[in-house]
Amino acid sequence: MKEISPAPPAIVRNDYESVRELFTKNVVPSYGRFDLVLSHGAGSYVFDVAGRRYLDLGGGIAVNCLGHAHPAITGALVEQSKKLIHVSNLYFTEPQGKLAAELVKRIGPGKVFFCNSGAEANEGLYKLARKFGHDEGRFEILTATNSFHGRTLAGIAATGQDKVKKGFEPAVPGFRHIPFNDLEAARHAVSPATVAILIEGVQGEGGVLPATAEYLLGLRALCDEKKLLLLLDGVQCGHYRTGKFQSFQRILENVNGEGRRVADPNQGSRHAVPPDFLPDGLSMAKSLGGGFPIGAFWVRAPFADLLGPGTHATTYGGTPLACAVALKILEVIETENLADNARKLGDWMKRELESLAQKYPGVVKNVRGFGFMLGLELHEKIPGFAASDRTPAVQFVSRLQAAGVLTIPAGNQIIRLLPPLNLKPTEAGEGISKIEEAAKSLA
Ligand SMILES: Cc1ncc(COP(=O)(O)O)c(C=O)c1O
Repeated sequence: MKEISPAPPAIVRNDYESVRELFTKNVVPSYGRFDLVLSHGAGSYVFDVAGRRYLDLGGGIAVNCLGHAHPAITGALVEQSKKLIHVSNLYFTEPQGKLAAELVKRIGPGKVFFCNSGAEANEGLYKLARKFGHDEGRFEILTATNSFHGRTLAGIAATGQDKVKKGFEPAVPGFRHIPFNDLEAARHAVSPATVAILIEGVQGEGGVLPATAEYLLGLRALCDEKKLLLLLDGVQCGHYRTGKFQSFQRILENVNGEGRRVADPNQGSRHAVPPDFLPDGLSMAKSLGGGFPIGAFWVRAPFADLLGPGTHATTYGGTPLACAVALKILEVIETENLADNARKLGDWMKRELESLAQKYPGVVKNVRGFGFMLGLELHEKIPGFAASDRTPAVQFVSRLQAAGVLTIPAGNQIIRLLPPLNLKPTEAGEGISKIEEAAKSLA
C-alpha cells in the first residue's frame, strides 16, 4: 500500500463542545465539573469522546468496585433483566432475600433494608434512631465535624461541614456535631435528648481520616452506657475497600477489647475484631452496586424490627435487578480474593506515596487511609501552582488528569485514590509514577 505523505491528520471530534453545550443549556449546574467528556470504559480505564485513555483511580468516587464494563456485571444485568427487573415491595423476591442474607453474614446478626443511595441509607438510620428514642422524647443524633452523610435535607443537617448547609436553612433539627476521634467530646456532648451517634469509619469527603480503634470501642461503651444507638456510615469506606468488608472490621482487627493491638496485622495471623463489637446500624451504597444504584442499611438484631410494616419504604428499594448485580459483585470479590488485593496493593501504594512525601516534602505533606481508600495530603502553598482561586487539590487533580490519571479532590488539600478493587499491580505502578511525575514537576 502506498504511504500517504505527509501522514493524514488525526480526526478532531467536536463532541466535547456539543456535550458541554447540552449541559450548559439543560442540566442544573449544581456540580463543579472537570473539563472531560467520558464515553466508555474498560477495566480500570475510561476513555473520553476523543478516544483518550485515563487510568481511573477515583472509581466513580468509590463506586466502580469491579472497574468499568465488567462482564460479570453485564451478565447479571442481562440475565436478571430477562426475568424480572422490578416488582413492588408488596411482594417477596429471591434476589433481595439472598442479598440481605449475604450482608448479614458479613456484618453480624441483624436485618437489612434496601434503598437507592447513600443519603437514603443514612436517612433510614435517622428514622431508626428517632423511632428508638421516640417514646422517651429523645431524637438528637451526634455526628462528627468534617463528616459527610449526603445531600438530602437531613443529610446536610447530619453532615459536619458548613459549606453543604449554606443557603438551605433552616436546618432539619436534631443534629449536633462533635470533633472526630475525640471520645471525651462525645461524652460531654450527650444530652438528655441524644439518641444516637453516627460516624464514618473512615471519613471520606472530610479527607480520608480513619477512626481510631480506641474511638470506636469507646463510642460503643458510651452508647451502651447512655442507651444510644451507635451508627456507622459505611457508604464510602465499606465494601472491602479497606481490605475488610467494613472499615470497622479493619480498624479493629488484631485489637483486643481494651483497644490494645494484639498482633501486627502485616506479620501475624489476623484476629477477628473484638467479639463484642458491632454497631447498631450501618449504611451502605456506592460499591454495593458497582455503579448500578443500590443502597442499604443493616440494623443489629435487637433493633431489627423497630421499623415495622408501614414505617419505611421506597419504590425501588432492593429491586431484583439491583440485588442480582450486588450478589454477583460479592461473588466476584470473593472468588477473586479482591479484599486481599485491596489490602495488599493499596498498602503498597500507600508506602509508595509516603516515599513521595519524603522526596517532595514541599508538595506532599502526608498520606492517610488504608487499602484502596487513600488520601494524599498536599501542602497549602505549593510553589509550582500559580495563584488561582482553585484549591491545590483541584489543581493537582487537573494536572493528573492531563497526564491521564483520574483522582478525586477532598477539601482544599487532599487527593483521594479510590480505585476498583480489581486494580492490577501494573496499573497501581502506572498511577504512582504519574503522581510522582506531577509531584516532581511542582517541587
Ligand atoms: C460517607 C458518605 N455517606 C453518604 C454519602 C451519600 O451517598 P449518595 O451520594 O449515594 O447519596 C456519601 C457520598 O459521597 C458518602 O461519602
